[in-house]
Amino acid sequence: MAQKVYRSIARFYDLLDLPFESRRYAPIRPEMFAGLSGRVLDAGVGTGRNMPFYPPETRVTGIDLSPAMLVRATARRDRLARDVELLERDVCDSGFADDHFDAAVATFLFCVLDDALQLPALTELARIVRPGGEIRMLEYVYSKNPRKRFVMRLWAPWVRLVYGAAFDRRTERYVPQAGLDIVAHRFLYEDIIKLIVARVPG
Ligand SMILES: C[S@@+](CC[C@H](N)C(=O)[O-])C[C@H]1O[C@@H](n2cnc3c(N)ncnc32)[C@H](O)[C@@H]1O
Repeated sequence: MAQKVYRSIARFYDLLDLPFESRRYAPIRPEMFAGLSGRVLDAGVGTGRNMPFYPPETRVTGIDLSPAMLVRATARRDRLARDVELLERDVCDSGFADDHFDAAVATFLFCVLDDALQLPALTELARIVRPGGEIRMLEYVYSKNPRKRFVMRLWAPWVRLVYGAAFDRRTERYVPQAGLDIVAHRFLYEDIIKLIVARVPG
């Protein structure tokens, strides 16, 4: 499903997202990587929007299910002259060794993953990030404000159709089931874009 959706929109993705990227996402992306070092996974790297914010102390591997999105990520990597490994992999079955990464970041990935894939994806990240390492997720959720919630409900079918995404994923609920500890959760944009930080115990 995601592969099909992103094959169609890869070419327009950055353009479609432009108003949101400049006003909402770019200001909060640096926080996703603040303080990280060593081997870091950017899961669902997309067109590589996080790349300008990778700290120099990190060696980042970006994975994505969509070859079309990876083509865009590769072009961005080359443009920015960044040393980023890009691989076509499924976050639910990544093929990396246990404890391979020091940390993982996923921006707007879990809102794209169907409910049935939330736990497998978290379990896989828990396996490939070393004990003590953080998994940071940035996700949309429905606002508690009735007016904003209503507007989001109007947008939901478009978001589903174009991005294969939903605002009502319950990612946080699956974190303990994946054997992870939640160490922080707070909103980074109004009450609709949430940072969830989980840690691999040990
Ligand atoms: C909404 S985009 C977010 C892209 C990027 N992280 C960003 O912040 O702009 C979601 C990305 O997740 C990728 N994706 C969806 N399912 C995936 C999976 N099972 N494994 C890896 N990537 C996946 C999609 O192909 C898409 O590039």
